[in-house]
Amino acid sequence: MEKSIQVAENIHWVGVRHAELQVFDDLFPTHNGTTYNSYLVQGTEKTVLIDAVKEPFAAEFFDKIKEHVALKKIDAIVVNHTEPDHSGALAQLLEQQPELLIYCSKPGENFLKQLLNRDFNCQVVADGDEIDLGGRTLKFILAPYLHWPDTIFTYLPEEQILFPCDAFGAHYCSDRLFDDEIAEFYPDFHFYFDCIMRPFKDKIREALAKIDPLPIRMLCPSHGPVRRSSADFAIEAYRRWSVAPPKGGKPRALLAVLSSHGNTRDMADVIKTELEARGFDVSGFAICGMRDDDYRNALEQADILIIGTPTIQRDAPPHVWHALSLISSVTPKNKLAAVFGSFGWSGEAVKMVEQRLIGLRYKLATESISFRFTPTADNLASCRNFAGEIVNVLKSA
Ligand code: FEO
Repeated sequence: MEKSIQVAENIHWVGVRHAELQVFDDLFPTHNGTTYNSYLVQGTEKTVLIDAVKEPFAAEFFDKIKEHVALKKIDAIVVNHTEPDHSGALAQLLEQQPELLIYCSKPGENFLKQLLNRDFNCQVVADGDEIDLGGRTLKFILAPYLHWPDTIFTYLPEEQILFPCDAFGAHYCSDRLFDDEIAEFYPDFHFYFDCIMRPFKDKIREALAKIDPLPIRMLCPSHGPVRRSSADFAIEAYRRWSVAPPKGGKPRALLAVLSSHGNTRDMADVIKTELEARGFDVSGFAICGMRDDDYRNALEQADILIIGTPTIQRDAPPHVWHALSLISSVTPKNKLAAVFGSFGWSGEAVKMVEQRLIGLRYKLATESISFRFTPTADNLASCRNFAGEIVNVLKSA
C-alpha cells in the first residue's frame, strides 16, 4: 500500500492515484489517468484536511491519514470545492468523525447539503478569513467559478503554499508526486485548462488578481503533480491563457456556415461582403470540416456569432449542433448572434438554432431570415439588409 508523502513540515499529501481512469466525469479524456489530492495540515493546536478524495478511494485515503492521526482526531476539513471527486469520501469521513467541522463557501454549504443529505457542522468562510492551527495558518480566498460557484483557494502563509483545488491542476498520474520528478506533463496541464477552466476566463483573471500579492512557493492542486519548482510557470500560463480579448479595432463577426447545396453559402457570401464593406472583420468558417480550436478561438474574439444552416430531415445538421455545443466550452466575448439559412421542404433549422442560442443566453441582433432553395435577387437583397441590421445593432451598442 502506498504511503503518504511529506510536502512540507507537518503537511502531507494523503491523496490517491487513479491511473486507470480514461474519461473524467464521462466528459473529458484523461490521457494519463489522474490523482485526487488531499493534504493533511497539522498545527500544534489543530489538525485539518484540505479536500477529500473520490468515494471509491476512501479506504486508501483513510489509511494514509492514519499514518499521522486517528480519524477521530481530525478537527476540520476545508472543502475548497464540492464536486464529488473531492467530496465523495466526506460522507464516510463524517461517519468516522461526526464532530468534523467543514470550512467552505456559502455555495459550497448549499451544495454539500444536497450531496451529503445529512446534518454536518459547517462554518462558511468569507474572503480573507483565517484560521490558526498553531504555527500553521489557513487563509481563505474566494475563487468562484474556478470552476464551480463554490470554489475557494486556501493559502498557508508560513510555507507560502497555495491549495487551489482544481485550478493549476492536471489530469496526470505517475508514481511520483512532485513536478521536478516528472519528465513532462505540460500537454495534460494545458488540456486540463482547456477542458475545465477555459469557460471561466473572466473569473480566472479575478482570481489571479487576488493571489498576485501573495508569495507562492508551491502550488498544491487537487489533481496531478504538486508544483514545488514551477508555481510561477503555472500561474503565468493561466495568466496568458485567460487574457481578455483586445478592445478597439474593427468589429469582428464570426460567420459559421453549413451549406449542403450551396444556397446557404450564397446567402453567406452576400452577408460577408456587406459586413466587410461596412468595416467589419469577418472570420468565415465552413462548419463541416473546420478545426474546433480555430472556431473556439474565434468565438472568444467575435462581437457577433452569425450561423447559417440548411434544414435536413426537419432539423439542423449534426455539425451545426456540434458547433453550438462548443459555445459553452469557451468564454465568448459577446453573446450576440444572428441566424439565417436556406431550405427545401420545411425549414425548421433556423428557428431551432435561434432557440438554442437563446438557451445559451445569447441575444439575437436581428430577425432571422430563411429562403426556399435558390435565393432570388430579392432574397439576396434581404441578406444585405440582414447584414445592415447587424451593423446598426453593433454600432449602437
Ligand atoms: Fe476535480 Fe471540479 O473537481
